[in-house]
Amino acid sequence: MKSHFSIDEQGHLVIGGVSAVELAERFGTPLYVMDEQRVRENYRRFYRAYADRWKKIIVCYAYKANSNLAVCKVLCSEGCGAEVSSECELRTALRAGVPGEHIIFNGNCKSPQELKLAIENNVLINLDSLQEIEVVDEIASKLGRKARVGIRVNPDVKAPTHPYVATGLRESKFGLDVRSGQALDGYRLAKEKENLEVVAIHSHIGSQILDPRPFEEQIRKVLEVVAKIRDELDMEIELVDLGGGIGIPYKPDEKELPPEEVASKVTAAAREAVESYGIQEPTLVFEPGRYIVADAGVLLARVRYTKERPGIPDWVAIDAGMNALIRPALYDAYHHIEVANKMLDKPTKLFNIAGPLCESGDFLGKNRKLPEVQPGDLLVIYDVGAYGLSLSSQHTAKPRPAMVLVNSGRAAIVRERESCEYLTRLDRIPEWLE
Ligand SMILES: Cc1ncc(COP(=O)(O)O)c(C=O)c1O
Repeated sequence: MKSHFSIDEQGHLVIGGVSAVELAERFGTPLYVMDEQRVRENYRRFYRAYADRWKKIIVCYAYKANSNLAVCKVLCSEGCGAEVSSECELRTALRAGVPGEHIIFNGNCKSPQELKLAIENNVLINLDSLQEIEVVDEIASKLGRKARVGIRVNPDVKAPTHPYVATGLRESKFGLDVRSGQALDGYRLAKEKENLEVVAIHSHIGSQILDPRPFEEQIRKVLEVVAKIRDELDMEIELVDLGGGIGIPYKPDEKELPPEEVASKVTAAAREAVESYGIQEPTLVFEPGRYIVADAGVLLARVRYTKERPGIPDWVAIDAGMNALIRPALYDAYHHIEVANKMLDKPTKLFNIAGPLCESGDFLGKNRKLPEVQPGDLLVIYDVGAYGLSLSSQHTAKPRPAMVLVNSGRAAIVRERESCEYLTRLDRIPEWLE
C-alpha cells in the first residue's frame, strides 16, 4: 500500500479519508479515484525542489498525463502553469483558469486552428519543424499579433525507459536536430520573422526516467545550444524548457528518484554551463506530468469471476481491462494490485488478473500474490493517476470509467461514467440503409 493511503478497522483501503469499498458502492466500478491532497503535495515537492535551488523557475503541469478539469483546477489553484499538446487540452487549461501566458503548447503536428487559438491567447508555442516556423509566422501576421515561441531541439540524449516514451534520441520524431546544425538553422530562420518573438528553447527526453544522469546530460547539451545561439546569432534565450520525465516507482521494491536529487544535479550542471559559456542565467521551465499525478490515482475494479488453471496461477476476471488502463498492454507496464476489501489478509496465492475484453493482451497483472480472491471482491490498481484515464479507450464499446476526487473524507464525481448512448451519439445511418 502507498504511504499516503491508510486502512480502516475493517481492513478496507482508505483514500483521501474515504473507504474504497464505500466509493465503489456509491459510484460503481470500474472507478478512477484521485487524491487531491496527494496531487497538491507532489506539486509542492517538485516546485520546491527547483525553487530552492534556482532563482527563476516555471512549472507547467503536462495535461496529457491527466487532463480532467477538476485535477487541472487543483493544480491551477497551486499557481501551476499548463503544458498542452492539443486544442482540447489548451481549452481545458483556459477553462481551469490558467492564464494564456502560463501555458506552453507542444507537439510535432499542430493544426492551423490550434496555432491560431494559441497565438490569440498569448500561449508560448514550441515549434517543432522548420516548416512550422513559417506557418506560425504567417498565422501571426494574419492575426496582426506577435507569437511567443520557442524551438524544440533534439539533443540526442538516451533515456533508460520504454522506447515508446523515449523522445530525446536523434531518430525520434521530435525537435530540430542539434548535431547537424538544424536547430541553429531554426533559430536563424525564426529570428528573421517579423511576427515571432523568440524566447525559449525546449527539449523533452522521455518519460518514466528514474536516473538523474540523462537530465544532467540534457541541460548541458541544451545550454551549449543556447551559447551557440548567442554567439552565432546574437540572440539571448530567456526560457530553457526541459520538459518532463521524472518517473515514479511502480513496483514495491523500486526506488524513487527524489526530485530534490534531480534538481540538485540539474541546477549544478546548469550553473557550471552558465559560468563557462558566460550566458545569462535563464528561467528554467519544467513540464512534469507523471510525477505530479501518478501515485495520487487508483483504479477500483470488481472481481466478477475466478477460474482455476491447475499448475499455473488462477485467473481473476475484473470489470476493468485494457480499455480502462492500457499501460500494461501497451508498455508492458507494472501496476501494483491489492484487494481493497482485504488489506489485512495475508497474500497466499498467485493470480493472473484479466479484464473483460476478448483478447489475451487484456490483463492488468500476472503472477500477483494476493489473499484468496472471490467474486465480489474489490481490487485496487495503484499509480494510475497519470496516463490512465487519459489513454483509456472504448474498446469493445465499453463506456469509459468514472473518476472521483477525494479530499478529507469528501468525494465528488469529476468525470461521469460514459453510457451506451454516449458511445453511439455520433453514429449516423445513411439514408439508403434506413
Ligand atoms: C513535451 C512533453 N512535456 C512533458 C511531458 C510529461 O512527461 P512526464 O509525464 O514523464 O513528466 C511529456 C510526456 O510525454 C511531453 O511529451
